[in-house]
Amino acid sequence: MQRIFSGIQPTGIPQLGNYLGAIRNWVGLQADHECIFCLVDLHAITVWQDPEVLRQQTLAQTAVLLAAGIDPKAHILFNQSAVSAHARLGWIFDCVSRLGWLNRMTQFKDKAGKDRENHSAGLYVYPNLMAADILAYKATRVPVGDDQRQHLELANDIAQKFNHDYGVDFFPAIEPLIPPAAARIMSLRDGTKKMSKSDPSAQSRIEMTDDADAIALKIRRAKTDPEPLPSEPAGLQDRPEARNLVDIYAALAGITAADVLARHGGKGFGPFKTALTEVLVQNIVPIADETRRLLEAPDHLRAVLRDGAARAAQIAEPIVSEAERLVGFLK
Ligand code: TYM
Repeated sequence: MQRIFSGIQPTGIPQLGNYLGAIRNWVGLQADHECIFCLVDLHAITVWQDPEVLRQQTLAQTAVLLAAGIDPKAHILFNQSAVSAHARLGWIFDCVSRLGWLNRMTQFKDKAGKDRENHSAGLYVYPNLMAADILAYKATRVPVGDDQRQHLELANDIAQKFNHDYGVDFFPAIEPLIPPAAARIMSLRDGTKKMSKSDPSAQSRIEMTDDADAIALKIRRAKTDPEPLPSEPAGLQDRPEARNLVDIYAALAGITAADVLARHGGKGFGPFKTALTEVLVQNIVPIADETRRLLEAPDHLRAVLRDGAARAAQIAEPIVSEAERLVGFLK
């Protein structure tokens, strides 16, 4: 059975892009993989986080993942900082990875923008720590959204360079699992920007704890254009907002964009938005309700994470100890 590793930053409430691009696949992959899912709090502090809010959001995200169907008994769910192997292997990878490789990372360029000098060194080496997350478990498959593709290529480069530099065949190759559709859900306010937990406008995203009224309002306000919906996907070209809403509908209903347009093409956005709201409510509200219920028992959520961290450490510790021995640390 292949081993899966994936992570999510406990910054803000997971949004629809996290769900369709990653979490929903995590749930499905549990049937035939050994899965390790991680709330990456070390990654979260690469930009400033209020400490109390970070703690609360780590629990809130745990609740969302459980509500969405992650099984913490059959698989592993934990927070990254609780397993020291991540930081230790992360440091080794900081020394394997090359500045030239990191300079090509588009996410760093997007996040740092023109104000590069004022960002943390952690944000710069962020992808090295991601490689450590995965390889501390020798995981071979990593389900992520499209925005993580470049980071996983870098992880493979790091694994190969480590193996080459130390003359070993120690770390395996990693295969990204990126969903064919919905790998990049866009903002509801701007179809050229990724939907994101950190967007200052809450109207730009559907959060996994939104109720039916909030979902209806956000979809009613979602940006569109004045044309009716086209009757074929080719007509969505250069219409990023229309394409995004059609993609969301298709992903949630489990049909193709062509099927959506066969039903709704030729009409204005009004009736389509009503149908989209309905399918969103059907999918999101049960998860939101279950999340609220789970959040009433924070001790249970803490226990889930503690148990997950203990089992994660059992897997990672021998692998990272061996990596430390290979680089020459006296044991
Ligand atoms: P994060 O928290 O930004 O995102 C978590 C997952 O959600 C996906 N995602 C999206 N998918 C489609 N459309 C969107 N708008 C959208 N926004 C986010 C992301 O691709 C991701 O799969 N660096 C990772 C966390 C991480 C990780 C790892 C992942 C740390 N270590 C090791 C895999 C393996 C991240 O930014 O998560």
